[in-house]
Amino acid sequence: MAAQASYEKEYVARTSKSKAHFDKAKKLIPLGVESNVRFFEPYPFYVKRAKGAYLWDIDGNRIIDYALGYGPMILGHNHPAVIRAVKEQVDKGTMFGASGELALEYVNMVKKAMPSIEMFRFANSGTEATMHPLRVARAYTGKEKVAKAEGSYHGGHDYALQCVDIPPDKLKDSRCQPAVPFGTGIPKSISDLLVIYPFNDWDVTEEVLTKNADDLAAVIIEPVQAGGGCFAPRDNYLKKLRKLTKSLGIVLIFDEVLTGFRVAFGGAQERYDVKPDITSIAKIAGGGYQLAGFGGKKAIMEEIIPKEGGNVYHGGTYNAHPVSVTAGLTTLEILSKPGTYSKIDRIGDSLFHGLRDVAQDRGVDVWVESVGSLGQMYFTDHEIRTWRDAFNVDPEKWKHWFMYSLGKGVFFGVPHADEHFFTSLAHSKEDIERSLEISDQAFQRIAKE
Ligand SMILES: Cc1ncc(COP(=O)(O)O)c(C=O)c1O
Repeated sequence: MAAQASYEKEYVARTSKSKAHFDKAKKLIPLGVESNVRFFEPYPFYVKRAKGAYLWDIDGNRIIDYALGYGPMILGHNHPAVIRAVKEQVDKGTMFGASGELALEYVNMVKKAMPSIEMFRFANSGTEATMHPLRVARAYTGKEKVAKAEGSYHGGHDYALQCVDIPPDKLKDSRCQPAVPFGTGIPKSISDLLVIYPFNDWDVTEEVLTKNADDLAAVIIEPVQAGGGCFAPRDNYLKKLRKLTKSLGIVLIFDEVLTGFRVAFGGAQERYDVKPDITSIAKIAGGGYQLAGFGGKKAIMEEIIPKEGGNVYHGGTYNAHPVSVTAGLTTLEILSKPGTYSKIDRIGDSLFHGLRDVAQDRGVDVWVESVGSLGQMYFTDHEIRTWRDAFNVDPEKWKHWFMYSLGKGVFFGVPHADEHFFTSLAHSKEDIERSLEISDQAFQRIAKE
């Protein structure tokens, strides 16, 4: 076993119960966690409870949380209004099988946030929220291929798990990057239906999409690409993409699973003023419960309605689960209040800009890319604009900062250098100051080494 890195020592010293639990869990649960992303070396911590901006692990440590359930908890954990609504719903019944009234109220709220959504269907996860509309787009256009950006993440189905990462020997010029399955078990015949384009590189995107237009049913995109970290769209990239897909007859799908209700109430489509044909939502949409969905142009969504010649199947036992709908609706009602997003962005900026300033003061080269409450810190001396720009960042320095901070009780988000972290409305000025203070200590150590 490799020697314990010095920056991990405090984490290990404070988490003996998590270590013991991990040793037991990994015998029954692959990697000891329920989602591969949750695993990190030397072992993950396990959580007992959460409130506001904090998690408490099973060793009793209080942790400032910037993972926030991997995105949903923008109000902070256990917001009292959400908990109250959930408890009331539990008393009324949790699973009807038939549809309830609240689902329509919820859809009206989503439509208010994202007026591009003319019709909407519920699902349970972000994975489903991107999988279904791809099929709808194929039915609507009569074409079979789908374009996705290299590095982007749209969930765990076979069409989405392509070029999420690319091994060096499979990496080609972005003008002709073939789809490479992410992981094993994905049929080659699915990869053959994917076209790969580079987010934020307009000239190549235009060339690739135009060349494949006759076969392309849909272009799916994270309008702020969070697969690979955080990449904000530059130079009107989204507006150009909207114009091009419209002229080529390709359905434009915004995967707003992460950005929806985060970068603005109306998601990235509001922030960057671009209307997609279809939008996928999840995460914040359910206020911490399993709710997702997709919606957009009526003419496209009507592919789901049975008609002569066939229709797209869409169903799901738990779709519009009453508890999730209640939690989601209560969350969206709170978020819809005027002034909420300037506050969300202010808190986000104080952390992300603060990290950049503190690192600079200590002479550590970082590029912090953020959009309001979503961002990532790359240890590099160059600008990060595209997914390929992030290839040569320093993962060891990132790990040093991440593990040192975790040892001091600050969890800087999804535990991998090519992921991201978030702020919530529950993070106080003191939480941010404490997080910057601990990061400053980490930067001093990194600068010394
Ligand atoms: C942009 C995006 N799309 C889709 C998904 C998949 O969502 P889920 O994990 O709910 O299936 C994620 C999850 O992180 C995501 O970030």
